[in-house]
Amino acid sequence: MTHVFHRQLSSEMPVAAKGDGVYIVDTEGKRYLDASGGAAVSCLGHSHPEVAKAIKDQVDAIAFAHSGFFTNEAMEALADMLVDAAPAGLDYVYFVSGGSEAVEAALKLARQYFIEIGEPRRRHLIARRQSYHGNTLGALSAGGNVLRRAPFEPLLVPGVKHIAPCYAYREQAPGESEEDYGQRAADELEAAIIEAGPETVAAFIAEPVVGATMGAVPPVAGYLKRIREICDRHGVLLIFDEVMCGMGRTGTLFACEQEGVAPDLLTIAKGLGAGYQPIGALLASERIYRIIREGSGFFQHGHTYMGHPVACAAALAVQRTIRDEGLLARVREMGEMLERALIGRFGNHHHVGDIRGRGLFRAIELVADRATKAPFDPVLKLHARIKTEAMARGLICYPMGGTIDGASGDHVLLAPPFIVSEQEIDLIAERLGGAVDAAIAGAE
Ligand SMILES: Cc1ncc(COP(=O)(O)O)c(C=O)c1O
Repeated sequence: MTHVFHRQLSSEMPVAAKGDGVYIVDTEGKRYLDASGGAAVSCLGHSHPEVAKAIKDQVDAIAFAHSGFFTNEAMEALADMLVDAAPAGLDYVYFVSGGSEAVEAALKLARQYFIEIGEPRRRHLIARRQSYHGNTLGALSAGGNVLRRAPFEPLLVPGVKHIAPCYAYREQAPGESEEDYGQRAADELEAAIIEAGPETVAAFIAEPVVGATMGAVPPVAGYLKRIREICDRHGVLLIFDEVMCGMGRTGTLFACEQEGVAPDLLTIAKGLGAGYQPIGALLASERIYRIIREGSGFFQHGHTYMGHPVACAAALAVQRTIRDEGLLARVREMGEMLERALIGRFGNHHHVGDIRGRGLFRAIELVADRATKAPFDPVLKLHARIKTEAMARGLICYPMGGTIDGASGDHVLLAPPFIVSEQEIDLIAERLGGAVDAAIAGAE
């Protein structure tokens, strides 16, 4: 009997009792290898002593001081650290409590920026199909996740247009080079801007490496560069949502570094605090900040817990650990190992069509038929079966359905902690292999 309004009302869940490195241990003593960090959150695993100490020290010093009255040392130090590492020009950080709040802040700051520069007609947002930007109404309006949007369509913000994602496995035409495909996909943005009327478009938002909705899908070479050029040509702000793919997950602190492209606004969360505290942030360009500072002098937005000292102290300890222990290099090294392990287990699997991703952000896409790329019947809910089979085997992974168009397609996302070992990588591939085979056998 529970009085908790759980996320899933129909299934019994184990009770998490303890963290132990890459493992979560339940109250029965069963150990689960956390190969997805929940949802790409727990990048340092579950019991990092220095992060725990930083949290305790901050609570002992001061737990909360409202950001309307005070700044705090942890927040200032964390902002300095992020700006030092961020792509050039992203010089200011607005701290919130999670990814959806960071996206809401980005959308509102983009809108306020255009009001302050005397372009109040700019109100439209362009985003991509098969994307996710959060569950609050503004962020949900931006996202292209059909299932998550469907019940709330009448409440969503009007004026959001969705263009195609960059999804080479399914959308690159036979004989078309990667480069040509990237330009073609990006050119959809220009067509959408022109159709809406460039003077009415405020921003374009995209995940540089798509997360949960499609499963670790990186852009093809040149795609984001072309997107940047198109935005510049039409005075449209570029927002990168790195809530899932940022903070080292793909092997560089910011995923967009690998594309050589910097946005005007960039959202982060998840790996920022590694789950030790809820925290997200919006990085803004110097120009946007300056326009607001020299204009109204006030961003018309805010939340009670923004810049929370304990959340900032935790995130600071997480980010210092990643820097001081050289964990980004480790993400690249272990990421290649994970890719090899996945290719070893699934490279010839009849029902795995694509193995993709970057760093420790990887996915497999399941297909009924490799030659035609036909997906499994969505009625089978293969992704849900894989999750159940994986949990039974002591493996936490992140399977999802609707990979292709919101209805059909299944994938499994993996995002293990950066401290994962070689043996644990092998165990992930082995247990996932068992779970996938059992789920498919159960569905046939
Ligand atoms: C790319 C992206 N943006 C935004 C969000 C929303 O973040 P949160 O769940 O912390 O509100 C998520 C969460 O999965 C995400 O993956």
